Amino acid sequence: MTRSRVVVFLLCLYPLGFWLAQGFIGGLTANPPEYLTRSSGEWALVGLCLVLAAPPAQRWFGVTWPLRHRRMLGLFTYFYTVLHVLAWALWEQGWSLSAMWVDIVTRLFITVGVVAVVLLTPLAITSTNAWVRRLGRNWRRLHWLVYPAVALSIWHFWLVRAGKNDFADVWVYVVVFAVLLVTRVLAIKNTGAGRRRL
Ligand code: HEM
Repeated sequence: MTRSRVVVFLLCLYPLGFWLAQGFIGGLTANPPEYLTRSSGEWALVGLCLVLAAPPAQRWFGVTWPLRHRRMLGLFTYFYTVLHVLAWALWEQGWSLSAMWVDIVTRLFITVGVVAVVLLTPLAITSTNAWVRRLGRNWRRLHWLVYPAVALSIWHFWLVRAGKNDFADVWVYVVVFAVLLVTRVLAIKNTGAGRRRL
């Protein structure tokens, strides 16, 4: 394991370590389930943006580590997404499948979140070398799904905040995502570099 790989691995563990430490000192706010559900969702979104930012980080600033460790970043992002969904399943739905189903079909922000997770799941599954070889050119096509998945995740976040009429953080993600999307499209148009590196 290279040193940068160890550093990225430890950075990816930061949210989990932070929650555990806060849990020990009683710092998970007055409502730990709500805090952990929201915090895991936000870290999942941060992770998705970092994954998308990896190619421009290298192109614009010569920073190579996000691209070199993008698979690990992506898998940790999926891990935090799964924790987020499990937090909802446990604390909001008490593991009841029927209650989950009702929530999915009645609350739009949950429906949108589920679709995002459905799109992200094949990306996590096919992130191994064996799948990259097996899918060939289709692997890259499949992994374009990350863009609609991020768009849906931001929409989900938007809908959550719509109830509180508090969009300040959401706008940050909207702008970051728009910039990353536009730069990728331009990279493809101008040099074809975006095609080589999703
Ligand atoms: C099965 C799919 C999903 C379910 C059931 C789900 C459920 C939830 C719930 C219950 C909340 C809290 C709402 C509130 O406090 O009023 C929430 C918030 C959030 N979720 Fe999800 N979510 C899903 C997918 C996702 C995905 C894929 C992402 C991003 C990668 C995400 C990111 C967020 C964010 C950023 C928040 C808001 C946190 C905040 O208000 O600070 N969620 N989600």
